[in-house]
Amino acid sequence: MPRGLFITLEGLDGSGKTTQIKRLAAWIQRRGLDPVVTRQPGGTATGDRIRALLLDSRSTALAPMTELALMFADRAQAIAEVIEPALAAGKVVLCDRFTDSTEAYQGGGRQLGSQLVLDMHRLVCGNLQPDLTLLLLPSLAVCLDRARRRNDRVAAQSGKDENRFEQEQEAFYQRVWEKYREIAAREPQRVALIEGNLTIDEVHEQIAEAVAESLITVGHAC
Ligand code: TMP
Repeated sequence: MPRGLFITLEGLDGSGKTTQIKRLAAWIQRRGLDPVVTRQPGGTATGDRIRALLLDSRSTALAPMTELALMFADRAQAIAEVIEPALAAGKVVLCDRFTDSTEAYQGGGRQLGSQLVLDMHRLVCGNLQPDLTLLLLPSLAVCLDRARRRNDRVAAQSGKDENRFEQEQEAFYQRVWEKYREIAAREPQRVALIEGNLTIDEVHEQIAEAVAESLITVGHAC
């Protein structure tokens, strides 16, 4: 059985990942494939509990190292339970966030540095690398505005509190944004950078183009 294709979506809160991952999954299904869609943190029963702990704004005074370790605990579980079995079965896996998020948020935002994150990735995740990473990078102002409005809406509708990261200051998000750009510059082969304030359709077109190319390289015609 040929190995599947591992695709990750990355970007700041409010970058439009959630909308795009849904459209991408439908686009892949129209090509006769059945993608596995997952997200981090979360995506497993244990991961959902870790997610609640990480994102709830009542989790006060969480040390940056605790946050880092929880992100990797969640990821180790997702790899073992969802990602590796799906790839071994030849599936396309679409994962909303992966280790680039940890490098950008904990490495950049929390200033723990890239090296620690990359070392932990080797130790905890067997250095599993995505075949393709779609990095959505609209301007910081657009991301912050969208993320705040979305969180207010979710909190009003469901009472769910996932605001802990949104309470961070702009300087934190500026560092996250810059770290993402650094990752894209370091790994242009893996990372498709989709920059600027584009429409949903324009972003989808760029995503479809990058994914079509990757599918061809693993032998799926589109
Ligand atoms: P989401 O809303 O896109 O699911 O992301 C949840 C939040 O968790 C988002 O603010 C980014 C943050 N995060 C990290 O700080 N480090 C990580 O490794 C991951 C996966 C997410």
